[in-house]
Parts: sequence; C-alpha cells; structure tokens
Amino acid sequence: MTPTDLVFQSYGRCCRKDEFFVDFYDFFMASSEAIRNRFVDTDMPAQRHLLRNGVMQIILVARGMSDRKLRDLGHSHNRSNYNIQPEWYGLWEESLLKTVQVHDPEYTPELRAAWREVLKPGIDLIRGAY
Ligand code: HEM
Repeated sequence: MTPTDLVFQSYGRCCRKDEFFVDFYDFFMASSEAIRNRFVDTDMPAQRHLLRNGVMQIILVARGMSDRKLRDLGHSHNRSNYNIQPEWYGLWEESLLKTVQVHDPEYTPELRAAWREVLKPGIDLIRGAY
C-alpha cells in the first residue's frame, strides 16, 4: 500500500469518533499559550468540523486532487488574515500525530512516517503562503 492509502485508511479510523478532533485541539492548545489565545473567540464545535475537512483536503491533494482549497487556507492563515506564525505549524503537526497515535488502533512508527510524508506538501503550501 502507498503512504497515501495507509493515511487515507488511518484517517477513516480516526474520524469514526468526534473525540479525535476534541483531543487534537486539546493537544494543540496545550502546546503553547499563543496558540490557545488564537482560539478564545472561536466556536470550537464548528472549528472541529472545519478541521475534519481541512485534514481530508491535505490527504486528497497528496493523492493528486486540485490544491485550490488548500490555497484558500493559505490565504486565510497568512500575515494579512489570521497571521499564523510559520513556526506554529510544527506544533500543529505534532499535535495531529499525537492524536493519531492515541486514536488509531493500527498505529505503528511506519504509519507515523507515512502521515508525515503525506502531510508535508499540504502544510508546506499553507505555511508557505504566509
Ligand atoms: C496545515 C495546518 C492547518 C490546517 C489544515 C488548518 C485548517 C483550518 C480550517 C479548515 C479553518 C477554517 C477555515 C478558515 O477559516 O479558513 C481554520 C481556521 C483557523 N485556523 Fe487553521 N489550520 C492549520 C493550521 C493552523 C495553525 C498552525 C494555527 C495556529 C494557531 C491555526 C489557527 C486557526 C485559526 C485562529 C482559525 C480561525 C478560527 C476562528 O474562526 O475563530 N491554524 N484552520
């Protein structure tokens, strides 16, 4: 199986429970006070739902789909809009990998490597739009 197939299936297992997105934001917000501050006025149930689609977009782009929606995310996160600092994306990725480890019963170090490989182009694109 290719890395994108492994990750596509892993994400399917993770998405079976809404807890995945609750735990992701708990880890992400615990990683820095600056991150926590960014979400003080955010409707978190809606945000969890939006993130579900955002991660799926990254996986689909790694599988060859158009990156138009990721470019829109690059725009909303750039210095003129949410002003998301480039160094925060490392915390975002670590939080996601930690959440996958907790939620995917088939997690292995090889699966983690596949996730990192699949996330990289999408994260680079959004961060690169800063
Ligand atoms: C590649 C990683 C990321 C993905 C896929 C992602 C995805 C999303 C999506 C889908 C939305 C909602 C759509 C929009 O407003 O454009 C959003 C909003 C947002 N994201 Fe991200 N994001 C990422 C990284 C980050 C990072 C590192 C931060 C740092 C704090 C962040 C903070 C925010 C904030 C503050 C909002 C707006 C929340 C609100 O509406 O109150 N994101 N993100």
